[in-house]
Amino acid sequence: MNQSDKLKFLYPEENYGIEIDFDKKETKISETFIGVFFEDINYGADGGLYAELIQNRSFEFGSFKESFSKFDDYLYGWEVFEKDNKQFKIERKNEQPIHPNNPNYLEITLGEMSHGSSLSNTGFGGIALRKNENYNFSIFLRNKDYNGKLHILLQGQNGTRYAKVTIESKNVDDTWKKYETVLNSEEDDSFAKLSLIFEGEGTLNLDMISLFPQSTWANRKNGLRRDLVQMLKDLNPKFMRFPGGCIVEGKYLSNAYNWKDTIGPVEYRKTNWNRWEEWQNAPYNQTYGLGFYEYFQLSEDIGASPLPIINCGMSCQFQGKEVADDVEPFIQDALDLIEYANGDETTIWGSKRIEAGHKEPFNLVYLGIGNEQWIDYEVEGQDKYFETYEIFRKRIKEKYPDVHLITTSGPFPSGKEFEVAWDIITDKTKEYIDRGKVYAEIIDEHYYMSPDWFLDNNSRYDSYPRYEDGKSSKIFAGEYACHTNGGPSKQGENNLYAALCEAAFMTGLERNSDIVAMTAYAPLFAKTTNIQWQPDLIWFDNNKAYGSVSYYVQKMFGNNMGTYTLKTDVVAKTKLPKYKRLPIYSIASYDANTEEMIIKLVNVDEKAHTVSIELKNVQGTWQKAKGVILTSENKMDMNTLEEPDKVVAKDFILGNVSSEFVYDMPAQSFVVLRLKVM
Ligand code: AHR
Repeated sequence: MNQSDKLKFLYPEENYGIEIDFDKKETKISETFIGVFFEDINYGADGGLYAELIQNRSFEFGSFKESFSKFDDYLYGWEVFEKDNKQFKIERKNEQPIHPNNPNYLEITLGEMSHGSSLSNTGFGGIALRKNENYNFSIFLRNKDYNGKLHILLQGQNGTRYAKVTIESKNVDDTWKKYETVLNSEEDDSFAKLSLIFEGEGTLNLDMISLFPQSTWANRKNGLRRDLVQMLKDLNPKFMRFPGGCIVEGKYLSNAYNWKDTIGPVEYRKTNWNRWEEWQNAPYNQTYGLGFYEYFQLSEDIGASPLPIINCGMSCQFQGKEVADDVEPFIQDALDLIEYANGDETTIWGSKRIEAGHKEPFNLVYLGIGNEQWIDYEVEGQDKYFETYEIFRKRIKEKYPDVHLITTSGPFPSGKEFEVAWDIITDKTKEYIDRGKVYAEIIDEHYYMSPDWFLDNNSRYDSYPRYEDGKSSKIFAGEYACHTNGGPSKQGENNLYAALCEAAFMTGLERNSDIVAMTAYAPLFAKTTNIQWQPDLIWFDNNKAYGSVSYYVQKMFGNNMGTYTLKTDVVAKTKLPKYKRLPIYSIASYDANTEEMIIKLVNVDEKAHTVSIELKNVQGTWQKAKGVILTSENKMDMNTLEEPDKVVAKDFILGNVSSEFVYDMPAQSFVVLRLKVM
């Protein structure tokens, strides 16, 4: 008999009780408890949320070869069809580009025999077109001495034509100009291409070849995928962290994310190499078409407070381990960022935001200084992070005392790096309290851990230090996900069990939300064809998107946060062996806005349990409760492109509710109940 059969034999009727005391209001729940973490990993931005359909639109691929990429293909994403290769010449050039930030462009020379040569872009694994939809096409052209026509076509892979427009060379200037037109697709096609067919002779320069669906989120030009933004909004997130993650640090400092490269007209923005390329066998760049203006705008659209993370003058400590000689430019970037987000028209950076179309401030309140930095006394220069943080802190607080700063306890939830960080944070917190100040409003902790870790750590924050009210740092569970294979990797499965372990853990976070102010699952997005890291919250291909099971856990929490928690005890009603972890997790709260009690219940067991729920000191004339349940037949079940709705949250009504009622909790399930309290 195995252990589980033995338990079933010994304890056939495992019953649990949940005791909720309405008179014992424990913790004011953080208003920013659920948020999202965005990083351009797994094609989350280019090829994903950013709705641009052309890959390598400005021919910058291959320009990072010496420093980073092993790929050297400036025509990546493009197919060239040469009618006569002696008379057809294609070159990448960089003399007098549109803008120095966007240095490369294409020069095409054709002769009489090469009429009909073409260039086609297949997007990010095919361009998905929808019948009768409009697509905004644009291109920058400079006419050297080209005489003839340039046909722009939407086509199937076999050449079937879905849309066509023609640009005449006589209308093309000899300086860079943008040409725009709208293409309407005659058909649906998931693997279409955009083709440029040359019917003429001479030399022409091309750059920034772009195709966007008109149907984007809020119908914006340079916009975002409507379905993906909707999925974010449905989570009801209260903050959005961006742009990462490791992307912030860069492999080396020359690859670090600099927000100033990402604003202004898209053709003036820099392209950067994406360090996640190393986790896949294909080139990967960041166009920054989805840049800081768009991140702020997106945060606003989904009702989330923007939470940018800024580089602190250090590159990734797992990789390049570079430290800037002079941290001043990084501090200036942080100060300028706050001005960009919040400043008015009298400020340099505030006026850039206003010029971009957003007169009102973006209300930046949170700013992270570095991502996953830690102290390593054994490697030169790697022991400076907290000193640097204090310099940032001083300079930022002098000018913007109300901005909440986020420091980091490193990449792991325990171990040497974590302990060293927390020793410093604890000492510094006390020192600052003595001076009547706050060292760091928020500490960022990360955990990509096993299912057992998530269950064992439900009480992680019960004993975290709480100092003077208002002076204690809060915790930001800034990146986490349950990895079924035990640690950060490509193999973790987004299955029901992983999601339930997260839900169980989150009941502990909610119970401690006096100090756990913010939480975000990570990473947010993954394209099914380009995965560098898994599990992830939201999956998509070029046509559709679906939520992982974990997505529904986040959604159920995000839409069911109360005002304060109530004392909630889970008790075994039958005698259980000491070593057996209780399979039921719960937290109750009161929502003062709707006057409802919210009860969250998680059963991580593979068998159903009878749960008797006792509501103490509360008046209500209950008959029915509103419920949402997330469950499935098997704890390994997960959602896929083929079966996107296999495990989704479903609404139900629970009858016979009173101050003591019994709920038969299905095997492997997460349930939220809402009851009206008098
Ligand atoms: O979420 C994926 C990565 O995990 C993030 O970029 C990094 O911060 C963490 O190590």
